[in-house]
Amino acid sequence: MKRTTFFVAAALLIGVLPECTAETERPERTRTTKVPAQYTRGEELFNANCARCHGEGGRGTDKGPPFIHPVYHPHHHGDESFHLAVQRGARAHHWRFGNMPRIDGLNETNVNEIIAYVRWLQRQAGIY
Ligand code: HEC
Repeated sequence: MKRTTFFVAAALLIGVLPECTAETERPERTRTTKVPAQYTRGEELFNANCARCHGEGGRGTDKGPPFIHPVYHPHHHGDESFHLAVQRGARAHHWRFGNMPRIDGLNETNVNEIIAYVRWLQRQAGIY
């Protein structure tokens, strides 16, 4: 009887654990991967201007959506949508976080650097 319980418990652990950890490890891996030098400027700009809503590493917060998400795949939200969102803000339409305000103080080059960083994050997460 005891032995059966042990086997059942062991089978459950072996069967279930890898799946759970596979789910939770993903963002962890994104966080610990070192950002390549060509994206660190974009990372700085992102952290200073976008992360308070879109989250560190683009993982989202309670104020804005994650970019590590198929909705922001480059075919669905191309680079132009980033420039527009920064210049004009974005009206809530995909989510329920409310509107995104216009973000001042960034020039086109800055936004391109942010986009390059976000695309890199997305590739790390297997979005594309
Ligand atoms: C004050 C919070 C906030 C900040 C700061 C912010 N965003 Fe957003 N952003 C949002 C919200 C909320 C949405 C989602 C709108 C929706 O429902 O689709 C959004 C959506 C977007 C979109 C998608 C627009 C579209 O066409 O659907 C892009 C691109 C974007 N943000 C880029 C940025 C970038 C780049 C920065 C930093 C320079 C930034 N955001 C800073 C809140 C923010």
